[in-house]
Amino acid sequence: MERGDLAGLSSQTLRALELPALPPGAHFFSGKVRDVVELGGGELAITTTDRISAFDRVLATVPCKGEVLNTLTLFWFDHTADIVPNHLLERVSARTVRAARCEVVPVEVVVRGYLTGSALRDYQEVRPVSGIRLPPGMQPNQRFDEPLLTPSTKEDGGRHDRPVSRAELLAGGLVPRGLWEEIERTALALFHRGSEVAAAHGLILVDTKYEFGLRRGVLTLVDEVHTPDSSRYWYADTYAPLFASGGRQRELDKEYLRQWLLARGFRGDGESPGIPDEVLVEVAWRYVTAWQTITGCTFTPGSLDAAGELALVLDLVRRAAGASRASGASGA
Ligand SMILES: Nc1ncnc2c1ncn2[C@@H]1O[C@H](COP(=O)(O)OP(=O)(O)O)[C@@H](O)[C@H]1O
Ligand SMILES: [Mg+2]
Repeated sequence: MERGDLAGLSSQTLRALELPALPPGAHFFSGKVRDVVELGGGELAITTTDRISAFDRVLATVPCKGEVLNTLTLFWFDHTADIVPNHLLERVSARTVRAARCEVVPVEVVVRGYLTGSALRDYQEVRPVSGIRLPPGMQPNQRFDEPLLTPSTKEDGGRHDRPVSRAELLAGGLVPRGLWEEIERTALALFHRGSEVAAAHGLILVDTKYEFGLRRGVLTLVDEVHTPDSSRYWYADTYAPLFASGGRQRELDKEYLRQWLLARGFRGDGESPGIPDEVLVEVAWRYVTAWQTITGCTFTPGSLDAAGELALVLDLVRRAAGASRASGASGA
């Protein structure tokens, strides 16, 4: 896809599924970006909408974003299935999947390869990074000898996630020790794989966030993987000269909208400035560019309109209700 192809798509975004009343056993919940229907029988329909959030607030919709995030996650599920099972059961459309419902571990598992972002801010203010004391004299954007795992608690209701040290996490009983050690090993292996695949396409996977769940007691990767919403990527070819000169790294992520908002004095509180269409198209182009660079393929939009997407989700709801009636009948 080329940039010009996006202009015609800006009126066709999906803000939310307009679900009618659901049959017994099905429930709806939504996060900032995803609309989720619990189908019953341990399954979910997850639709990645085009909503974009900044400073933990949903501010607009961006053409192609949901589809970029969902298909990129499918790409990464494919490239990591030998490391850890994931929640995917079926790709239903470009933005909707049927997934195994897991008991989600209430921790955002952040892995960092470089000293940047909130870790850099902590370091400059001489605070430990999720309880980890870093050596003195590190430079902004410097690579860590070994990637760092810096967990945060997953807070709901619009509260910011809170960094937590390993010791605090284990002492608080948030996650049993054995499970946490398995999560650490898995997250580092995923980050290693992500970095290799990114490097093959001229990118550095700088940092990322994973979510894990348990499915019948088995550790399972859920939500999204190595997307521009959950990760920071830099271009590899300019890393060294920019690091040497102390310049900003060339990024492949959603900092653009954050910077646009900051330049207008918006930091997440009060009313957000209206975001013009051309800014949203620019944001969309960055998501599509990320997809095309990471996968090395050409992105072709295939989204259905809101009614088409809703029809697919309702079909999953009906199938699930039918399956539970059938198993109820045979069990009686
Ligand atoms: N397989 C799964 N089982 C249960 N919950 C899941 C699964 N995959 C994702 N989720 C949850 O669904 C929600 C996805 O919505 P999202 O918009 O990403 O939320 P958030 O605003 O928390 O990022 C998250 O709360 C995530 O933890
Ligand atoms: Mg999420």
